[in-house]
Amino acid sequence: MSRAVLEPYRIKMVEPIRLTSRNEREALLQEAHYNMFLLPAEAVTVDLLTDSGTNSLSAEQWAALMIADESYAGSKSFARFEETVRDVFGYTYVFPTHQGRGAERLLFSVMCKAGDLVPNNTHFDTTRANLTDFGVECADLLCAEGMDLQLRHPFKGNMDVEALRTLLREKRERVPMVLLTVTNNSGGSQPVAMANIRAVSAACREFGVPLYFDACRFAENAYYIQQRENGYSGKSIEEIVREMFSYGDGLILSGKKDALSNIGGLLCTNNGALVPRLRERLVLTEGFPTYGGMAGRDLEVMRVGLREGMDANYLAHRLGMTEYLGARLREQGIPIAEPAGGSSVFLDARGFLPHLKLEQLPASALAAEIYLEGGVRTVEIGSAKLSSGETMSLVRLCLPRRVYSQTQLDYVADVIGDVWKRREEIGGLEYEFKPEILPAFSAYYRPLSAVTEQELATAD
Ligand SMILES: Cc1ncc(COP(=O)(O)O)c(C=O)c1O
Repeated sequence: MSRAVLEPYRIKMVEPIRLTSRNEREALLQEAHYNMFLLPAEAVTVDLLTDSGTNSLSAEQWAALMIADESYAGSKSFARFEETVRDVFGYTYVFPTHQGRGAERLLFSVMCKAGDLVPNNTHFDTTRANLTDFGVECADLLCAEGMDLQLRHPFKGNMDVEALRTLLREKRERVPMVLLTVTNNSGGSQPVAMANIRAVSAACREFGVPLYFDACRFAENAYYIQQRENGYSGKSIEEIVREMFSYGDGLILSGKKDALSNIGGLLCTNNGALVPRLRERLVLTEGFPTYGGMAGRDLEVMRVGLREGMDANYLAHRLGMTEYLGARLREQGIPIAEPAGGSSVFLDARGFLPHLKLEQLPASALAAEIYLEGGVRTVEIGSAKLSSGETMSLVRLCLPRRVYSQTQLDYVADVIGDVWKRREEIGGLEYEFKPEILPAFSAYYRPLSAVTEQELATAD
């Protein structure tokens, strides 16, 4: 047996978990229309819905919160925040926003117009929804390795640089910027290599297109570069982060991930020409430029979190935990997307429930069964085409930062193992209500009736 994944912290405050019975969970699932987002958090035993804003704060973050300056304009907290952000990422202009999607809207409002086209390795849901809302077309240019679920490759988040060059050659006039998401959340939270960042940047420079990062998980990406890419094992996370962002013109970031905060976002740019319009837009929808949608105390928490998120021991533990959970599932024969990602492990719902067709929503059905079995909350991830031509359907187990222990992950692996043992009895779901924008958050599902099940089973 290899050694346990040691937490490089000890627990100072605990939050009790209410345990539920199977009967209770059955009723709760029905009330929540089988949608994990609609369950009361209190009825969840281990919550792997998201790593967004679910982080535990450190003693130093709580202390920083107490010295916050809540002045409307020119606060000391903003000055400290701005100094840290400039130092970490190397960009000149810093705009705080209420969260990542606030930064997205702010950037797109000054960079994009209807009819434009924005490439990304994979657009995250809110990025895609916001761009679409501005009338912008989204192009996902993920590398071929990233579209093969079973392939073990160190950098499955890379962008297909040849595809980017072709797109820029043919449609340059429609492309106001290129986005690169690190790590690639919607593509299995897989990292992007420094060599790929460099190549994407070179293509952007050649065609005169600005490159912006969607940088929520910047530190996890940097850790993978340090561990997996030639020439980086002797570099610190801080140095790798500086190098990554030196190839771009700016970033948008949700502070709720690697910045170890519960709320907050950020836009950075080196383009001074954008600043007057960014200030105008920020005041209109977020707040005055020195708080921009965040309280002084949130700025302080994020300032400290940005540094703590780059601690090598913390990152070794964090990424060791997803790897550990992946290994516990794999050893039971449970199909997962390989390799385990930075913040998440993904179950291959079609491999898990091969008797269900896509229309029977295998990922939503599996997430509901996992909750029913042991109160573990996961989330279904929208389907996408694989390089094999098949459509994947995934369930994401996303780990909050500094929250759960290895024992709690063992519990999760055991619960999913019990669902795996009775997988053949699991039926499908159908939509009762499907909203147009970001349906996963608020859709209603219901179990397929026996008649519909039979019709689907006999259909081609
Ligand atoms: C890659 C990526 N971009 C953007 C966002 C949006 O950030 P927020 O939830 O803070 O609005 C997220 C959130 O999960 C994300 O993972």
